[in-house]
Amino acid sequence: MKERERWATRIGLILAMAGNAVGLGNFLRFPVQAAKNGGGAFMIPYFISFLLLGIPLMWVEWSIGRYGGSYGHGSTPGMFQRLWRHPLAKYLGVIGVVGPLMIVIYYAYIESWTLAFSIFSLFHQLPTVPASSNAAEVLAPFRDFLYTYIGTEGARGFFLRPAVWAYGFFVITLFLNIWILARGISRGIEVLAKIAMPTLFAFAVILAIRVLTLGSPVSPEYSALKGLDFLWHPDFSSLTNWKVWLAAAGQIFFTLSVGMGAIHTYASYLREKDDIVVSGLATASTNEFAEVVLGGSIAIPAAVAFFGVAAAQQIAAAGSFNLGFVSMPAVLTQMPLGWLFGFMWFGLLFFAGITSSVALTQPVMAFFQDEFGFPREKTAWGVGLFIFLSAHIPIFVRGALDEMDFWMGTFSITLFALIEIVLFAWVFGMDRAWQEMHKGAQMRIPRFFYYVLKYVTPLMLIAIIGGWLFTEWIPLMLKSDPAIWFARLFILAVFVAGLVLTHRAFQKKGKEA
Ligand code: ALA
Repeated sequence: MKERERWATRIGLILAMAGNAVGLGNFLRFPVQAAKNGGGAFMIPYFISFLLLGIPLMWVEWSIGRYGGSYGHGSTPGMFQRLWRHPLAKYLGVIGVVGPLMIVIYYAYIESWTLAFSIFSLFHQLPTVPASSNAAEVLAPFRDFLYTYIGTEGARGFFLRPAVWAYGFFVITLFLNIWILARGISRGIEVLAKIAMPTLFAFAVILAIRVLTLGSPVSPEYSALKGLDFLWHPDFSSLTNWKVWLAAAGQIFFTLSVGMGAIHTYASYLREKDDIVVSGLATASTNEFAEVVLGGSIAIPAAVAFFGVAAAQQIAAAGSFNLGFVSMPAVLTQMPLGWLFGFMWFGLLFFAGITSSVALTQPVMAFFQDEFGFPREKTAWGVGLFIFLSAHIPIFVRGALDEMDFWMGTFSITLFALIEIVLFAWVFGMDRAWQEMHKGAQMRIPRFFYYVLKYVTPLMLIAIIGGWLFTEWIPLMLKSDPAIWFARLFILAVFVAGLVLTHRAFQKKGKEA
């Protein structure tokens, strides 16, 4: 068997894994989900989901990844085949390759906006704030600026008309991603994480302090601290609200990057006796710090300080892009040195984004390298070309981005999490799984989690998927917009291609024996 690439240092590994998890989800998706679902009302299901779904699945994915890697498999088709010696297993694993690839197709595009806006801010190219205390008037020029950039302004029907900048920055962003991937695990991804993660944390801490010390220019009634109070005031009534549970669990998956396949791949570059219990926990905790402490202290408190709680909720209800690309620059550019804070805000989003997008692309890289024996650099540029061509769909087709995000960023990751936990805890067997998790462990996992993994996590996942099918499936499938069906057919076509390629790879190598 060919010697596989490895992480060079433990700190590099932890930073790369944290970079994998900490992403746009922490700073854009989390505040919106929290605000839309009632602030403090969201946080209780959120923390319960973190404990009963997030942490257990993190350990499961590190374990499956390290186990598969020891047999030379860096992606889930081969890993699942090892867990379950059944011809079907490898096809289930295709979700863990195609899923993250499809996410990266739109994720890298959004990431490119953050690069563009950080540069616009640095060169004073963002709009200026009109002299008004009316939130709608203050926000309007920033919304127009964003809409013109992404091309919703002035476009009708099926197609969007993005600014030429949007296309150019996407090409640059994708090129950077692929260049890093072509350099490999230790020379590319690990080096990126060692630079990007400390910078991102430094920017986030500075911004959080700046926002929390903001006095409101508009009304003495408003303050950033009121924003914190809104997020942290517990409200137990949400425990019986099905939708809040769905949103909380979905956020935990997305933010930790579990259910995607990306963690498995990174873990496959571990050595057999490398600890995963402490490292997995460290990754999950770093992500939560970045999300609830830093992510929770920037965008929503800033919006509350300037526009009040009710308006901030409305801003969040209009989506992550509205909060991150409209409300944040409107607030930041009003401060002294606003261009610098704007640069930091979009810069931190860019670093958070790129450390996640390389992680989302690595599973398909590993698939071609390990299962077909393709060389790394060629694979990287080939995958880059595929992403470039496919990205024309979210860039130019109206509604495609949201549709892809729903299927890949919410539905597929929950389904994949259920499949992997059943394979690991029930098919591979919970006793073997427990042993596998503890190989080289620096700490024993409390026995409580043995039962959580075996019963609670799978049952919660079944409840979430079942509830979703029951309440949302039919109205969703009845949506008949041609752009939406176009996006769906594209996803389906790539899945079918993934199944065929997997069939070929394993047939050629006779791995089923
Ligand atoms: N976990 C990554 C994020 O939060 C995908 O954006």
